[in-house]
Amino acid sequence: MNDEWLYLNGSFLPLTEGRIAVEDRGFQLGDGVYEVVKVMNGRLVWWEDHCERLRRNLREISLLQALDGHPFDEVLPELIRRSGIRDGMVYLQVTRGCAPRDFFFPESFQPTVLAYVRSVSLPQAKEILTGVALHPVEDLRWARSDIKSTNLLAAVLAKEEARKAGADEALFVGPGGIVREGGSANVFAVLDGVLRTHPLNNRILPGVTRKHVLEIARREGYPTEERAFTLEELRAGAKSGAEAFIASTLKDIMPVVKVGDIVLGEGRPGPITLQLVDLMRREQAALVGLEPPAPVASKLREV
Ligand code: PDD
Repeated sequence: MNDEWLYLNGSFLPLTEGRIAVEDRGFQLGDGVYEVVKVMNGRLVWWEDHCERLRRNLREISLLQALDGHPFDEVLPELIRRSGIRDGMVYLQVTRGCAPRDFFFPESFQPTVLAYVRSVSLPQAKEILTGVALHPVEDLRWARSDIKSTNLLAAVLAKEEARKAGADEALFVGPGGIVREGGSANVFAVLDGVLRTHPLNNRILPGVTRKHVLEIARREGYPTEERAFTLEELRAGAKSGAEAFIASTLKDIMPVVKVGDIVLGEGRPGPITLQLVDLMRREQAALVGLEPPAPVASKLREV
């Protein structure tokens, strides 16, 4: 059964029937940007934030006009309605279209604009309570990691290296051991009781989840600082209750129990992390019209 629908340049069709030209600049040059939006209970989560970031990204690559005539506020709910999908994601991509291969912008072109919906299992209590291990790698990406570009080769290679090392996610580290972000997630630590994360600049993606983590934490009175931390600070903090987690659209807040050879919380998610997990789960449930979920820690027996 095909319940996955695609919107491609103005038409709706089953996902498997979508075709992209060989000389599409997204395919050949990575000349495009994308978004991943969470679908929960058949509703979009934080779509306005994703839309704002998409517009900023398109402006950064001089492609903002690509959105003209594509009413995503209506298209995305329609995709979800057609698919009948309750939990999953919308993938959205915009490229500079198809043109004879050349690096210069083509003089005239039709952008390629697509979005599709797929069911994806969202994190369950068991996975959250198990936590994930990160594998530090040198950040070899370009210096505009704030743009959600489809050039993901550095992340593909880093994540594969992490998997081969037995970890769940790569951790991009800059000079001086500065922790930037994960392969496809932002990274937070709780050090000396302060929730810290890399400040917004060209080295990290301005994550939508990151923004909401900070909003929730500040609203609830947790001390927060957008100030980078190093692997050495994590190593030193591990002896005195340091916590860490990654944050992204499809992982929400996912506790980190290991970073390279540094074991955090004796291999268990930290208490502040789990409080934030619960607060975010409640906020998202309210947003999509679901009952408030039970605290994840109440599912401890299942792990
Ligand atoms: N990745 N940093 C990077 C490098 C990312 O690729 C992502 C998201 C994030 C988190 O951003 P957000 O909270 O807006 O999802 C941070 C998406 C989910 C992906 O490529 O699959």
